[in-house]
Amino acid sequence: MKTFYIETFGCQMNVHDTEKVVGTLLARGYSQVETPDEAGLVLYNTCSIRDKAEQKVFNRLSSFKRAGNGKVFGVLGCVAQQEGARIFEKAPHVSLVCGSASYTKLPDLLVQLESGNRRVTGLSLDTDEAFETPLTRRDNPHRAYITIIEGCDKSCAYCVVPFKRGPERSRTSASILEEARRLADAGYTEIQLLGQNVNSYRDPSPSGWDFATMLARVAEVPGLRRVRFTTSHPRDFGKDIVDAIDANPVLCNHVHLPVQSGSSRVLDRMQRLYSREQYMRRIEWLKASRRNIAITTDIIVGFCGETEKDFEQTLSLLDEVRYDSLFSFKYSARPNTPALALEDHVSEEEKGRRLTILQERQRAIQLERNAELVGAVEEVLVEGFNRSTGQWIGRTSQNRVLNFLHAVVPRPNGVSLEGSYLDVRVTRAGPNSLAGEAVA
Ligand code: 5AD
Ligand code: SF4
Repeated sequence: MKTFYIETFGCQMNVHDTEKVVGTLLARGYSQVETPDEAGLVLYNTCSIRDKAEQKVFNRLSSFKRAGNGKVFGVLGCVAQQEGARIFEKAPHVSLVCGSASYTKLPDLLVQLESGNRRVTGLSLDTDEAFETPLTRRDNPHRAYITIIEGCDKSCAYCVVPFKRGPERSRTSASILEEARRLADAGYTEIQLLGQNVNSYRDPSPSGWDFATMLARVAEVPGLRRVRFTTSHPRDFGKDIVDAIDANPVLCNHVHLPVQSGSSRVLDRMQRLYSREQYMRRIEWLKASRRNIAITTDIIVGFCGETEKDFEQTLSLLDEVRYDSLFSFKYSARPNTPALALEDHVSEEEKGRRLTILQERQRAIQLERNAELVGAVEEVLVEGFNRSTGQWIGRTSQNRVLNFLHAVVPRPNGVSLEGSYLDVRVTRAGPNSLAGEAVA
């Protein structure tokens, strides 16, 4: 019996890559198990965006040094791409190292593993095919991911992604639409379009659609109720995207627009290719929309040379934009990145102090933003039921979690609300979620 266990770290691209890998393994007769102990093949789909993420996989692997007898270990994803065959030295019990650009070769690599080869790698980046497989095993029965573009051609000074995922490759519009129709026919109602920089999508077929056109076409696929996309790069984010959202309510009113810093000086050192003012133009487009578009972002504190004044500009940007949510990180130096050549390192202690201040400021803003919704009726997609609170868990178009009470409670073999769309009146607001009651 061939069994495998897989654990995923990192971004949604990785989560979706794992779905593809799982589909490939199931098609080869493997079955998935819930713990590494039960598995013959143990896989880690890794992230190397920050040092902490990278260390996690080596911690996992080291815990198996002795207990791993007879198991085959594989490292997939970004750490695999970055470290390559060096992983065999750091963790000699690993047999498979495969980067995301090589997952098309996975069936071959599995054959090599099955025939007893103990050092198998798939690390080339020179593939021009965006990975497509009909075998993808989807984790969520209602929401599905579709990769529209792989790789990244930007060179942000702090970022390893261009080295991990290779140059940009867009998928044809025909193949994207075909996948969207197939998913809608199979009952999925929400689609999330994925790419490191979806805004630079360019249809390689003669029609040459740009991202806004592609987005509008996907939203027209019959049966789809919600279409989202991530991630955007402010430099390539055009007003036509806001126009598309305005024109079709299927496009969710949420845009994730990573800013990284509120200081134009820091943005320049980061090689982000926009200034604070140019970023704010995009925010103005979003705020001028007829829809109430939620805006979220990513911020790095303590980048090389970030002064107290620069940091204060990031805080003032939070006040100006009033983000609905954000992810914040301490700058972490990464191998091979341009930022390694920069000086003026900010101490770990100072990075920690800035991160805490930033997160406290944002928490207050989020409380206010969420409180503005009390009394409103929001449509949610029901994701599950929380037994400890007796509330259903829903998600709004703005991507907020809205927990709510409903006359229906789950019973064995009884009705479930999961996957349905319901109107919910918001009654309370916290910093990270809303609570409400289903509208009868
Ligand atoms: N250090 C800290 N944060 C980083 N990010 C990317 N690279 C680094 C790094 N070296 C953050 C950025 C990006 C998010 C996915 O991770 O904010 O938008
Ligand atoms: Fe992490 Fe970037 Fe790789 Fe995603 S693409 S897993 S964020 S390093």
